[in-house]
Parts: sequence; C-alpha cells; structure tokens
Amino acid sequence: MSNQADRFLWGTATAALQIEGASHDDGRGDSSWDVFARQEGNTYRGDTADIACDHYHRWEQDLELLNALGVGAYRFSVSWPRVMPSGRGVVNGPGLDFYDRLVDGLCARGIVPMVTLMHSDLPQALELAGGWAKRETALAFAEYASVVHRRLADRVDLWLTVNEPWVMAWQGYGYGRHAPGLQDPRQAVAALHHMLLGHGLAVRAMRADGSESSFGVAANVNPVRPISQRSADVAAARRWDGHVHRSVLDPLFGRPLSDDLVSHYRAVSDFEHVRPGDAETIAGSSDFLGINYYRPEYVGAGGDAGDRVTKTELIVPEGVATTGMGWPIDPAGLTETLQRIHAECPGVPLFVTENGTACYDYPDPSGLINDVERVDFLRSHVAAALAAREHGVDLRGYFAWSLLDNFEWAEGYAQRFGLTYVDFRTQARLPKRSFHWYRDEIARRSVRTGSAAAASP
Ligand code: FCB
Repeated sequence: MSNQADRFLWGTATAALQIEGASHDDGRGDSSWDVFARQEGNTYRGDTADIACDHYHRWEQDLELLNALGVGAYRFSVSWPRVMPSGRGVVNGPGLDFYDRLVDGLCARGIVPMVTLMHSDLPQALELAGGWAKRETALAFAEYASVVHRRLADRVDLWLTVNEPWVMAWQGYGYGRHAPGLQDPRQAVAALHHMLLGHGLAVRAMRADGSESSFGVAANVNPVRPISQRSADVAAARRWDGHVHRSVLDPLFGRPLSDDLVSHYRAVSDFEHVRPGDAETIAGSSDFLGINYYRPEYVGAGGDAGDRVTKTELIVPEGVATTGMGWPIDPAGLTETLQRIHAECPGVPLFVTENGTACYDYPDPSGLINDVERVDFLRSHVAAALAAREHGVDLRGYFAWSLLDNFEWAEGYAQRFGLTYVDFRTQARLPKRSFHWYRDEIARRSVRTGSAAAASP
C-alpha cells in the first residue's frame, strides 16, 4: 500500500446520492436510486434524493466542517451518472470537474481523500439494460473507473471500487428493498458476481494506468449470532454468514464459494453468468479491505416467514439496546469482526470505512443538538476498533458515518446519522454534540504523536 495509508486515518464518510442533490444540474443523468425513490411506496413518505443536503452547491461549506472537525481523511463517493450520464461513452465534463474541485479542496486543507466509485447509484440507462444482473455492467464499470482514476489519481491514493456489494445485489435485486426493487434471487446471485467482477476489472484497468493507488472494496460485515445453541439455529447462522459475508470475501481473497452456499444458490441460479477466468480476475484485486460495521445479526432457523433462499430469519432478542434503525448496539462486535477478518484475510490492511448510529436528533430551544446516544456509541466503537489494533489487527483508519444527516435510502430523511444536523428546509448545518466530541477525540489521540491523523491508543 502507498505511503499515505501507512498512518492511521481518522475520518468521516458520505456517499454522493445521499448528500449531493442537484440531481439534474450540469448534465447529470438519473441513477437507479433517483428513479426508485420517485416511485410511490419505495421510500419513507416518498422522500427522494433530488435535493438531499445540496452538497453539490454547498461543498465548500462542507469542507469547512471537515476542517473544523480536524479529520485526517474524508471518504466520499463519485456519482457515476454525474460523470457518465448514460453509463458508458460520453464523459460529462462539468460532472467530473466537480470531483476535481472537491479533491483540490481536500488537499488544500491537508485532508486525505478516499474515493468510492460506486455507492449504489447505478446510471439508470444501465439499469434499464439489466443493471448488475448483466455482465456488460461490469465492463462499463471498469471504463468509468478508469476515467475517474485518470483524472484524480495524481491526488488520490485510496480507492474503494464498490460499496457493500452484498447489500446492492441482494437488497436491490433479491429482496426489493433498494433500487432497482426486484425480488429475483437468480438476478441477485448474478448481480453480486458481476459487482465483484466489475471490481476486479476496474482494478485491472486502473492499475494499468501505472499509478501508486491502492484499491479495495467496502464490505458490510456483521457478527452473526445464532439465537440459541439449538443445532438448527447454529446451522442457520452459518448459512446466513455464508450468504452475507463469505459470498463476497471468499471470491475476493481467492477462495472458492463454499459447498453449503453453492447448494443454496443452485436452487435459484444455474451459475451460467460465471465465465472461465472470472475467479482469477476477482481474486488478488484488493490491496486493502474496508469494513462497514453497524451491528450484530441474530439468526434463527426460519419458518415460512424467513428468508426463502437461506431458510433463516433475523430476530432482535428482547432486551437488547437498539438504535433509531432498530439495530442492536454492540461495540464488542466491531473488535470481533476486525479480528475475524484479520484471521481470514491475513496480511490485508483494514479500514473501518463506516460506523455510526441513527438517533432521534433535534435542536433544543437554545439550538443545541445534544446527541448523547451517538457520543456513547462512537466512544465505545472507537475504543473497540483500537482494541482490535492492539490485538494485532492491521487497522489503518476509522471513518465515522456520517459527516451530515442525509438521505438514508428507503428511510428517506427520517433516520439521521450525521455528526452535523441538517435542517433540510433551510440547508443549515448545525454541528451536534457528537461532532465536538469526535473533534476532541481526534485531537486528543493525535497530540501524543504530533500528527493530526495519527492514532495513539
Ligand atoms: C450503509 C450504507 C451507507 C449508510 C449506512 C447507514 O449500509 O453503506 O450508505 O446508509 O448504511
């Protein structure tokens, strides 16, 4: 990995669709998520990403927030349909220029950029042609990645190709909760393969540019816990873990899909989408791995109501503390997850590329947003990440999700994850108590080593 990644990076993360808005400005095309959100019934109260945080126009103000936070790094995503409105071919100059200015603005403030190339916003033109279920999308992704990389690689060393491929594939094509809203497990199996293939092809194309860049995927990884020690529940937890994690990590790190997984997927897919050479393209394509960690999952053997592919069901046990999203709070699960991945993928540097919580935030009459739950959450999870580091995990950075309250996919604007409160009516930004806490934490941990981005235990 390149030098910049040798020091520990404290950062925050965002994604284009969730903050940019300006959905039709300067030649941007629609993404599948724009279209999905505009269709009735797909998002909370019909919220769309059309305006979001208006970051496209307010990016300088948002960079000043990063400055005030004192982060050493910022993870953001590039909107494919802003750069290539039809997904392939013609490059939209003003769209690419936006990211050029953003990167310049980060560099001018001494903040290391980490770029995600694909965070759920597939150009709608490609979605209409079959989206990730089609191999052509993986080829198109490599072309797009190369265009962005050639423009920014002189200033950006850290590249994430796809964010949460399992979520995009299965929530989008299998369970229908995310764009494009399909409920077709056959297409989901193919989509996941093509996302990983797209990652491999994109890395190959970008490496051919001859830069010093490092490449990785940001994967959602949760500890999976059986709801009881009954053998049926233990087996169900193993199936779910295979479905959500091993389906991504095994191909990326050169291991064949395990037999249990293949037999479940065989029930819905003939695997015709896999071609000779694909496994080699996917394997060996990662210099590091990003882990998005939010919660553990408790899994039992499912009845008819459960997941029809893996015959499992997810249950939140009674009495477990949860976030605004209803997700169990479990900082030790982050240490466990990092240690697990370190053991399974030896020698691979790791980043926590997302971690955070949704709370019921509001400005009080004096204008303060006293999000004590988020402070507790971040404090315990930062400690858990550093504990893994002390146990020998090669952890290179921690990115809090998120800089701003934003468009939380199907939850619309109802779930607030930001360190900064956004009044969506006026677009005012109000740093929350957690913003100040994180700022002080970064400064405190950096004092001992004298570097704004260095970690001390
Ligand atoms: C992750 C997504 C991110 C954000 C958080 C809360 O799964 O990658 O965009 O929505 O969840």
